[in-house]
Amino acid sequence: MEINGKHYRTIWLKENDPTTIQIIDQRFLPHELVIEDLRSVDEFAAAIKEMHVRGAPLIGGTASLGLYMACLEAPEGEAGMEHISQSLAQLRSTRPTAVDLFSWTDRVFQSLQKGQNKAERTALALETALEIIEESAEHCRLIGVHGVDLIKTISEKKGGAPVNVLTHCNAGWIACIDYGTATSPVYAAHEAGIPVHVWVDETRPRNQGARLTAYELGQHGVPHTVIVDNLGGHLMQHGMVDIVFVGSDRTTRAGDVANKIGTYLKALAAHDNKVPFYVTLPHSTIDWNIRDGLKEIPIEERGSEEVKFIQGQHEGKIKQVLLTPESSPAINYGFDVTPAKYVSGLITERGICPASEEGLLKLYPEQQAVLK
Ligand code: MRU
Repeated sequence: MEINGKHYRTIWLKENDPTTIQIIDQRFLPHELVIEDLRSVDEFAAAIKEMHVRGAPLIGGTASLGLYMACLEAPEGEAGMEHISQSLAQLRSTRPTAVDLFSWTDRVFQSLQKGQNKAERTALALETALEIIEESAEHCRLIGVHGVDLIKTISEKKGGAPVNVLTHCNAGWIACIDYGTATSPVYAAHEAGIPVHVWVDETRPRNQGARLTAYELGQHGVPHTVIVDNLGGHLMQHGMVDIVFVGSDRTTRAGDVANKIGTYLKALAAHDNKVPFYVTLPHSTIDWNIRDGLKEIPIEERGSEEVKFIQGQHEGKIKQVLLTPESSPAINYGFDVTPAKYVSGLITERGICPASEEGLLKLYPEQQAVLK
């Protein structure tokens, strides 16, 4: 997608230096566009943990290239595999909720193990990581191809008046490799000339909506309005939201969805007001090993300073300011689980299905074989 008219992805190999990976350091957006070089596994792990990169697919993509970096760093022989295994564990310990981190690194690790020496392992790790990244970008594009029909139908019913979409957090291209998940149908509608407007939840405490979703929609000329997290219910009660699109960090095979904290409350409000609530996800976000999201999805708890301090720009400088009494404790769960019963449908790269095991298996019949 584009920033200031220039095409970007969120992660790429540095031109003329394939031993360096470049990312957009999202901590500085929307105020500054900072490109960061990653040159060691430690830097990869820090970039994921400290959220220079974030969003389920991008976490997975970054960790996958982190394994390529581990191969570059590794010595020849036994000690080399030891370093790669330790790096795998280090990368996987960064964030617990998004399943892409685990499934993608599994795939890269399995592939590189086929290499007989350092050079072969490095080449396999890079090839597999890039293959997954390409696949993910294409899957996000296809989510838009399928999801846009929902917007089109609403637009026709409204006689062409703008379709009001509400979204939470940033499930946009900045959270993925390209296109985004929740934003992909919106971009597809915008491209097709269907008038669309997005209500952007600010998404406390890190404000991924206010900072990132607003930024990327603005860069693409998509009309949008930033709202406080508590406004969505009121807008829905007054008929001002036509459809909700959110992303997913982990979807169980029964259709329960873990996404950014606050998603569940939006689902409840949507349910009460009969507003369609769709979850957009590439199949990489489905955890086929679990069914009960509330019991089985690990929920990340982050530092309380993210709640107590807020970041913004003042006189051209990015600053953190204290928001609460200094001594007040705060708690910071990063995700919640929306039970499948509140989800109108799942939009994947293969099409739209009910949020249920039956629905998912119709789209992914090959998973029947691994049913536990
Ligand atoms: O904590 P974050 O910013 O990594 O959380 C991101 C989200 O919750 C997104 O909605 C989710 O990863 C889906 S991204 C396409």
